[in-house]
Amino acid sequence: MPRFISAKPDSRLLPLPWETPLAEWPVNLLVALPRGLSRHVVRFIKVGDDVYAAKEVIDHLAQHEYRLLHALMRQGTPAVEPVGIITERGAVDGVPLDPILITRHLEFSLPYRSLFSPGVRQETVSRLLDAMVVLVARLHLIGFKWGDVSLSNILFRRDADTFAAYLVDAETGELHARLTRGQREHDIDIARTNLLGDFLDLQAGGLLQEKLDPLRLVDMVTSRYRELWNELTGVEEFSGGELDRIENRVRRLNALGFDVAELDIQTDADQETIRIQPMVVDAGHHSRRLMRLTGLDTEENQARRLLNDLDTYRWRTGQAHVDEAVVAHDWLTHSFQPVMNAIPAELRAKREPAQIFHEVLDYRWYQAQRECREVPLLEATHGYVRDVLSDLPDEELNLDVLAPVVEDRQLVNPYDPSMGYVEAGEEPPVDAWENQADDQPEASPFLDLAALRARAAAKARAKAESEARDTP
Ligand SMILES: Nc1ncnc2c1ncn2[C@@H]1O[C@H](COP(=O)(O)OP(=O)(O)OP(=O)(O)O)[C@@H](O)[C@H]1O
Ligand SMILES: [Mg+2]
Repeated sequence: MPRFISAKPDSRLLPLPWETPLAEWPVNLLVALPRGLSRHVVRFIKVGDDVYAAKEVIDHLAQHEYRLLHALMRQGTPAVEPVGIITERGAVDGVPLDPILITRHLEFSLPYRSLFSPGVRQETVSRLLDAMVVLVARLHLIGFKWGDVSLSNILFRRDADTFAAYLVDAETGELHARLTRGQREHDIDIARTNLLGDFLDLQAGGLLQEKLDPLRLVDMVTSRYRELWNELTGVEEFSGGELDRIENRVRRLNALGFDVAELDIQTDADQETIRIQPMVVDAGHHSRRLMRLTGLDTEENQARRLLNDLDTYRWRTGQAHVDEAVVAHDWLTHSFQPVMNAIPAELRAKREPAQIFHEVLDYRWYQAQRECREVPLLEATHGYVRDVLSDLPDEELNLDVLAPVVEDRQLVNPYDPSMGYVEAGEEPPVDAWENQADDQPEASPFLDLAALRARAAAKARAKAESEARDTP
């Protein structure tokens, strides 16, 4: 009998066919969603309206990853949420099976292969790299050595004009009280090697603009990481007459999205020299503030944008001296909510609410510039829905757009249900992200393990068929 280990059990998982190897699960239990390359068998399983990621992995790694993901969740670090482990799985024939680690599918997450498309702007790539660097620095701040930074182990979500990165694979991670310089540098070395491979693959597949040089991209990651780390933890020394540098340091950290929980300030005996060093910094400066004021749970840069709008609202409505929490409530009911209510229900799977609000503000700004007038928020919302939102692909996992995966059919590639069925003419399940990539050049064969496996499977099938024909 399989055993379930879970902090938040979902009883609907119990009746699933745990005695079957994950690779052989009936396809009607699976959903086809894009995902990164992986050594293990990974499947997305659907229970009710929820989607979980299931990964078959040996016992001690499953336990290790589950615990680490929990630790990351407790610390509020962006990572996929662990749901449970199913252990002591025995197949019907008595052969023991590896445990399965279950995590919640990260909603609105974007696979990197759809972010790196041939038309991708240098600026976008630069923002993806920044998001990655912030994630690694946040992990290092809490003493987490990842050991396997790579594009396939990161999920991206939109965050205003930028991206937020989430950790998806903690298998190789180690949690320490704090990391030494050597441990951090080792992690960055691994990141360099993996990312260089990832970028070279993207380049070979024609998915990277020519002017983007893989080695330069990797160097950028390293130098930005060092800069950020220095800003977050570096020692600063100045004379007693420059006390405003303490305040400046805190402001700079806030601007980067970090709060200083503990700043070590040392002065020498005659107060000539002052030495400061942030000892404890927490990410999420703006998102925490927005959450406190409005209860909205957003990414950091979305929060920054919404807080700016809140400030503008305060000034516009002449409430400069009113308590901030009161104004925030007013803004929520008179600005944010009306915009959300104006979004047709069928378009809501396209973007997170805070992202929609951010994009409406952008839309309004451009319209105001174009037409040289002030554009009311709701008018801009209607324009945004009509001109922008309607044409965007769904980014939330939308179960309705996924054609049901039917039983009794052989998938082209059991490792990637999104590739569809074996029979010719059969449409693969609709996948809004991958559809967008339709007009891209064909990926290089070694970019995509799944494609390689599919090709090998097709060859083997053809060979078997021709042998069967040749046998009298
Ligand atoms: N909770 C989740 N939400 C969204 N996508 C997920 C989730 N879990 C896994 N994935 C997708 O599945 C892919 C493989 O998962 P993961 O990296 O954990 O497998 P792995 O076999 O351990 O990888 P590796 O080869 O790096 O060891 C990821 O790149 C990601 O795209
Ligand atoms: Mg992985």
